[in-house]
Amino acid sequence: MASLTVRQLDEALKKRLRLRAARHGRSVEDEVRTILRSAAADEAAFAAAPEPGAPAEPSKPSDPAAKKALLIIGGGIAAYKSLDLIRRLREHGIAVRVVMTDAAQKFITPLSAGALAGEHPYTDLFDTKLELDVGHIRLARDTRMVIVAPATADLMAKMAQGHADDLASAVLLATDRPILLAPAMNPKMWSNKATLRNAAQLRADGVHFVGPNAGEMAESNEAGVGRMAEPLEIAAAAEALLTPSSGALAGLRMIVTSGPTHEPIDPVRYIANRSSGKQGHAIAEAAAAAGANVTLVSGPVQVAPPHGVNVVQIESARDMLAAVEKALPADIAVFAAAVADWRTANNSKEKIKKTGKGTPELALVENPDILATVAHRKSKRPRLVIGFAAETEHVIEHAKAKLARKGCDWILANDVSPETGIMGGDSNTIHLVTKDGVEHWPPQSKNEVATALITRIARTMSGRP
Ligand code: CTP
Repeated sequence: MASLTVRQLDEALKKRLRLRAARHGRSVEDEVRTILRSAAADEAAFAAAPEPGAPAEPSKPSDPAAKKALLIIGGGIAAYKSLDLIRRLREHGIAVRVVMTDAAQKFITPLSAGALAGEHPYTDLFDTKLELDVGHIRLARDTRMVIVAPATADLMAKMAQGHADDLASAVLLATDRPILLAPAMNPKMWSNKATLRNAAQLRADGVHFVGPNAGEMAESNEAGVGRMAEPLEIAAAAEALLTPSSGALAGLRMIVTSGPTHEPIDPVRYIANRSSGKQGHAIAEAAAAAGANVTLVSGPVQVAPPHGVNVVQIESARDMLAAVEKALPADIAVFAAAVADWRTANNSKEKIKKTGKGTPELALVENPDILATVAHRKSKRPRLVIGFAAETEHVIEHAKAKLARKGCDWILANDVSPETGIMGGDSNTIHLVTKDGVEHWPPQSKNEVATALITRIARTMSGRP
């Protein structure tokens, strides 16, 4: 074996070695020995790992429903558990592609992660091979979900702010796939107001969480909430997130109404309300992901049309009713639109002008109730008709009365008082009122409400209680 002394190395390398040795509290010679030992161990692992860009082989390569996850490993002591997580995910038939932050590489080596994933990890945003070959945008999209484990306080802060200054954060900003975070940090860091604020923001943005759990920390005499969830828990959460898209509503037709309606007063003015369409659109997207054939009838909204959904854009309540009836027959109908209750009796063909002789009188007439009309149909009534009840007081009583009056099967009741921030906001607190009783759901993001509703619908449609 060739012999080499530290003195023979060039100055820049020697300087880096000295700094690294000082950081680890070792002599320069010991540092070199450590590096060589780790390189030799990794070389064995590397022999088993294909080049970046080569397709990862899941543990069940013959499984036609093989799923893909991108695992981002953050820099924390819990990173060692992510190696086990890769194995657990592959046991669930999930092929894993790995991205590691710089800090993660201080805890575990890319070659160990690559050997377990069956593919060399990605580490550098400016890696020319990556950008020519795969590119961070494709990394972000060529997966069914993104898992961040451990999700450090810093990574969560970057996500909440939309930073993109390294490969991990750029991928997280570019992805349109579900994101599952497994936070891991010291309990004081987890309970810090800044972290709680970031976690709340991420939840509202539709990011899913598993953990953190309570328990002993790596630091001695430290315990509390902050331990990363166990690899088995994270793999189960990932599996559950991937399941709705596995076709729980395959073969079923669904109509969803969403957004406000605009009722014209004259060619430039209209009656409307504050609905953003976020909840209805999220339900349509989750239903399509679960395999349903979805028609989304939407009033004017700013949110983007969901993927894989047939969108019919309308303005007024009467247009919405016509579009819904045209979309029948359907198996399921969810009425999430905030339909204007009234329209003007005669909307003016010309712009109403100030005459100086007092204010104009607006005579109003009631709009058709789309939910009640569909729920009371003798023919082509969907098997499951679901409405919302937006209330500002006596939420449950009003919702029960609406369920009976409108003839629907379920009502998702929510308190829309201004202080709740639900109208136009990103979260929602639902009380599911059925003929059998009331279920109180925890406060969730509108995306989580959509997933919970689709899971509940799938259960009912398959005849399970
Ligand atoms: N709805 C509808 N057509 C209408 C009014 C409401 O389809 N013209 C549907 C909504 O999409 C929602 C449910 O009925 O699913 C309840 O809407 P909400 O605004 O809470 O109730 P309203 O019927 O308008 O009753 P009120 O305004 O008296 O609370």
